[in-house]
Amino acid sequence: MIDEKMQEALNEQVAAEFYSAYLYLSMSSYLDSIDLPGASNWMRVQYREEIEHGEKIFDYVMERDGRAVLKAFDAPPTEWRSALEVFEAAYAHEQKVTALLGNLLELARELKDHATEFFLQWFITEQVEEEASVKAIVQQLRLVEGSKNGHFMIDRELASRTYNPSAS
Ligand code: FEO
Repeated sequence: MIDEKMQEALNEQVAAEFYSAYLYLSMSSYLDSIDLPGASNWMRVQYREEIEHGEKIFDYVMERDGRAVLKAFDAPPTEWRSALEVFEAAYAHEQKVTALLGNLLELARELKDHATEFFLQWFITEQVEEEASVKAIVQQLRLVEGSKNGHFMIDRELASRTYNPSAS
């Protein structure tokens, strides 16, 4: 059975993942409101991935014979000043999530919970990918600041993202 401290920390992470989902859904709505449907789609896909992350941890706690408990989280912001500000905020948020996962990994090591340590590896790798993809969009948006044409091109590219549930 999973250690109670680990269980509590994982349950907190479930809330953090669902907050991420809410944040990206909110960003998706804002991006739609400033006529960037492709960027809005990109965030909607991100939202689905976060739900998947939350569910993976939720399921894992139960698999370890623990009790998955859902916790409250704050409402996300609803307004930003530009697409660039949205993606910068998403990047900063992912960096925070990476730090949270690092803390979870430390705790698993402290408790010699090898199963959780192994389980968290997937999330740590996923974070590298998530940070890199958001950072790339931030860089593109910085390059086209003030250009409607540039935004149009980026938006078209972001429209092509689709949700592919992870196999693991
Ligand atoms: Fe589930 Fe974007 O971290």
